Amino acid sequence: MTAFEMPGGRAAARPLLAKALSPAMLGRVELRNRIIKTATYEGMTPGGTPSDALVRHHVELARGGVGMTTVAYCAVSPDGRTFAEQMWMRDAIVPALSALVSAVHVEGARVSLQLGHCGYFSRNTELPGRRSLGPSRLLNEYGLLSGIPFSRAMDERELAATAADYAAAAACAKSAGFDAVEIHFGHGYLLSQFLSPATNRRTDQYGGSLENRLRFPLAVLDAVRARVGGGMPIVAKTNLRDGFRGGLELDEAVSVCEALERAGIDAIELTGGFTSRTPFYLFRGKAPIKEMIEVEKSRLHRMALRLFGRRVMRDYPFEELFFLPLAKKIRERVRVPLILLGGCLSTANLETAMSEGFDFVAMGRALIADPDLVARMTDGRAERSRCTSCNRCVAEMDRGGVRCVLDP
Ligand SMILES: Cc1cc2nc3c(=O)[nH]c(=O)nc-3n(C[C@H](O)[C@H](O)[C@H](O)COP(=O)(O)O)c2cc1C
Repeated sequence: MTAFEMPGGRAAARPLLAKALSPAMLGRVELRNRIIKTATYEGMTPGGTPSDALVRHHVELARGGVGMTTVAYCAVSPDGRTFAEQMWMRDAIVPALSALVSAVHVEGARVSLQLGHCGYFSRNTELPGRRSLGPSRLLNEYGLLSGIPFSRAMDERELAATAADYAAAAACAKSAGFDAVEIHFGHGYLLSQFLSPATNRRTDQYGGSLENRLRFPLAVLDAVRARVGGGMPIVAKTNLRDGFRGGLELDEAVSVCEALERAGIDAIELTGGFTSRTPFYLFRGKAPIKEMIEVEKSRLHRMALRLFGRRVMRDYPFEELFFLPLAKKIRERVRVPLILLGGCLSTANLETAMSEGFDFVAMGRALIADPDLVARMTDGRAERSRCTSCNRCVAEMDRGGVRCVLDP
């Protein structure tokens, strides 16, 4: 991997920036710097298959200097998709993924794959029986208007099969050459639904106390580790808070991170929010409801967005490094490498992350806006991203592929 050099004595003048832009180990894998492109769903997998556009997107990020890019949301099984166009792991797509990995490696970056299961958030009407599976029987706010109003509680057999799906998907990622896998423990997806007291109402060994709510997510981690071995880093993306009353709160998030550390995770990416209830807690800034209505294909969903969009998708004020105050509490309690995420836009933000003891920084919207930001920060041409946190890139995912609306 090629490391970027900071020219002209800047490294001595700004040692924290130099640290952020210097090589670092993620597990046993070296990244050329500490900047990770976080998963932002690309909308470039027609029929659930990686397209050339997906390859170009990640090559551009790699060429732009990130240490590692993350291919977003790959479901571990067909029923792990929230909707039909999402990629799900199967042997047939391994050659296309392998081509993506090779193209990213040519540019000197590492590449990770985010593995997820949507749990009860299914809007996937193609599935036999229109299933929505989760920890408990719940109102499926996300799939209500698609005719999937309630979820069913998963039984022991389904839990074991799903853990095996995660392991098989990770093994496929390894065979495609990915440098790391990221398991989604956050944003209200399946493992987050098990962790959250709001959605896990089970009375068996998988529900109730946090120890019980952790049982299935940790079983998934164990199954993945057993398949990929110690050489492949596993990252957990997990919530600091779900963002609503009754959801997972920081005190339990600390215990979740401690448990992940004990279970041998290689790094933890700290996030927050629950897709069905607090979607913009994840991003902060304005919810682009007008644009979301424009791209929504279903007439019923368009109507619901017009009527209830503002109530369901409330805005949260954007602040730079918006998860830092909560993430610091985790930093105090674990030694495992931590990835700070949320509103990182500038070299000054990178320096703050380093001074607060974070090992890596993940960036989403800033790198959608400026895929070459890291290279330009390295050679002194850029101090901050042009991203305005307008969140209109969120609607672009469904308009043909994620992109920054500031581009023509
Ligand atoms: C267009 C878009 C798509 C996203 N898709 C995903 C996703 O597939 N998986 C995920 O974990 N987070 C997803 N996110 C959330 C980001 O990973 C990240 O948590 C959030 O944008 C905050 O980081 P930022 O302030 O650097 O953008 C998405 C965000 C955006 C803007």
